[in-house]
Amino acid sequence: MEPVITPCDASFGATITGIDLTSLDDATWKFIEDAFPEHGVLVFPGQGLSPEDQYTFACRFGEIEVTRPGATGQTVYISNEKADGKVYSPEETRFKQLRGNEGWHLDSTYMPLAAKAGLLQANVIPSRGGGTEFADTRAAYDALDDAMKQRIAGLSGFHSLYASQAKIGHAVPTGTGYGFHTKGAPLRPLVRTHPVTGRKSLCIGRHIFRIPGMDDEEAVALVDELVDFACRPPRVYSHQWAVGDLVVWDNRFVMHRAMPYDFNEARVLQANRIAGDPASELAPTDRDPYASDFQPTGSNEIEAVA
Ligand SMILES: [Fe+2]
Repeated sequence: MEPVITPCDASFGATITGIDLTSLDDATWKFIEDAFPEHGVLVFPGQGLSPEDQYTFACRFGEIEVTRPGATGQTVYISNEKADGKVYSPEETRFKQLRGNEGWHLDSTYMPLAAKAGLLQANVIPSRGGGTEFADTRAAYDALDDAMKQRIAGLSGFHSLYASQAKIGHAVPTGTGYGFHTKGAPLRPLVRTHPVTGRKSLCIGRHIFRIPGMDDEEAVALVDELVDFACRPPRVYSHQWAVGDLVVWDNRFVMHRAMPYDFNEARVLQANRIAGDPASELAPTDRDPYASDFQPTGSNEIEAVA
């Protein structure tokens, strides 16, 4: 069986068929590893991996991200369904987290070490909607006019999950469940360079709440303008899930969001998140004004910024 790669109808992304991810030989892994930072999104239809097999495949991309001190990395579920088969209701925290995922974002930019990659496999899908959309911030940067490139050169944004959830009316209690996020708000350049390809891209999305040197309102308006520009054709790939599809994306230049669906129907995605390389994904942090009772612990290995 030979792998066949077919580019998506977008500036990025590709579908790969002819591969069984449970039995990868070195040559086939090399094929995937090379395609990954080039295409940014790889779709493997009809894999239907067990959690264990998905974890094994995920580990090929790097260390699994650990989001809480003491936790162990593993395959987890992004699901609106409880253990008893009922779905979460709008008052519940999980519901609000899932609603937050419907805004364009990069994973873990609100933690000191942002993610390298994400993997999702569809185990249960609703009858309509519930897809996942991806956006190419590399092509977006390339397409900016010179005036905007000059305007954002040298600017950085503070990222906070407390701030982004607050935008949708969800007050996240400080220090309860976001683990390393309690180290404060990371400051990340709006324009970044990919560690493998050397290509520039935009590090933007819903988690940014402040840009030093600007009013917060002006900063959020600028980020919204950049997100709006980035997430237009041909820089968007919209994946409509079929059960068993597995998608992996390069979080270093690909944003994503969940598409709405009827929350009375179950949607279960099997997920892994790959930790970033500290050489390229680690950011300095400062106090997070949206985490009301956050107290710097002094235990950060990262220098706080003024
Ligand atoms: Fe996400």
